[in-house]
Amino acid sequence: MNRVTKRAQEIPPFIVMDVLEKAHELERQGRHIIHLEIGEPDFPTPGCICEAGIEAIQKCETHYTHSLGIIELREAICEHYHEKYRVRVVPDQVVVTSGTSPALFMIFSALLEAGDEIIISDPHYPCYPNFANFLGARPVFVEVYEEDGFQLRPDEIKKKIGPRTRAILINSPSNPTGNLLSSDRIEKIADLGPMIISDEIYHGLVYGEREHSVLEFTENAVVLNGFSKLYAMTGWRLGYLIAPLDFVRPLQKVQQNFFISAGSISQWAGLAALKKAEADVKRMKTIYDERRRYMIHRVRELGFGLTVEPMGAFYMLVNTKHLSSSSYELAFEILERADVAVTPGIDFGQNAEGYLRLSYANSLGNIMEGLRRIEEFLGNWGV
Ligand SMILES: Cc1ncc(COP(=O)(O)O)c(C=O)c1O
Repeated sequence: MNRVTKRAQEIPPFIVMDVLEKAHELERQGRHIIHLEIGEPDFPTPGCICEAGIEAIQKCETHYTHSLGIIELREAICEHYHEKYRVRVVPDQVVVTSGTSPALFMIFSALLEAGDEIIISDPHYPCYPNFANFLGARPVFVEVYEEDGFQLRPDEIKKKIGPRTRAILINSPSNPTGNLLSSDRIEKIADLGPMIISDEIYHGLVYGEREHSVLEFTENAVVLNGFSKLYAMTGWRLGYLIAPLDFVRPLQKVQQNFFISAGSISQWAGLAALKKAEADVKRMKTIYDERRRYMIHRVRELGFGLTVEPMGAFYMLVNTKHLSSSSYELAFEILERADVAVTPGIDFGQNAEGYLRLSYANSLGNIMEGLRRIEEFLGNWGV
């Protein structure tokens, strides 16, 4: 008999971790690798946030908190959603979590019975289908296409709605495509009927047109958000859910059982992020945008397909079908021959096969050098 459950054995790994581990192995051999596979900000957490964390330690805010999170942070989250999107949510709807990942797992566990379906775009963030499968539910994919800027089409979603559909998941700006879903489409998706789970973790990292929260269009929705990306706080492990009231008590019980509460120090730091870090966010965003524009120009120059400019997050998904039908092989080839780490599209779903995800969460100097190396690699392609 097998000692490990089928569920735990079968959950797929993040392929990007295979790339990262290989890159580390090459670095140990003395090679200098440029990292364009990374999904986390290269900036340090802004000083005002770190100071709030230090102050929390000094004030002995080092205990379990209320399982929903400290009231000051829950109130600040409500104010943030009101100021930014003009939507009214109350602290009783907010559950503070140890990152967006647990928030995602918690809402899936409260929403999906075994055999239920959740509609997800393909490509998508890998955890979405993995968590659904882990719970015995079924991800149902709606393909999105490069020519369409990887926008979800409401009429395509409609075709996939069935008796077991419990929710539609949207993620705008999106990982891995950097696509920003138009307000018109969010509204149409919200009108389809099923509950919307909206992963808004990349909100704030938008260059040009403004992003919209699903809550502007419907109350039949759960928002997932977190501090990792916008505030460069990946290691603090802080996120939250905004849910309809009937979901909150069940979510709270899941939180109590699995996690007790989010970290107290991180919560005080998160409060400072919402109240004091506006200038820091603006500075980081300006830098990301400069890198984004450079990367768009250069990848096109290198012959990679990028039909529509990505407008958010810090990723772009570029078409490399003319080079290889296996994004996995191509990514490793680029890593080994050009010393540049990139993420194979296949990590994000079947429909991203033939693409690579490039991240601009790295300095402009490194991006320039990384793309120069790829250019050289392409010059020798097939040789
Ligand atoms: C779309 C998306 N959602 C959620 C997460 C998880 O973020 P965290 O758990 O750090 O808040 C990530 C991280 O890369 C992401 O890209």
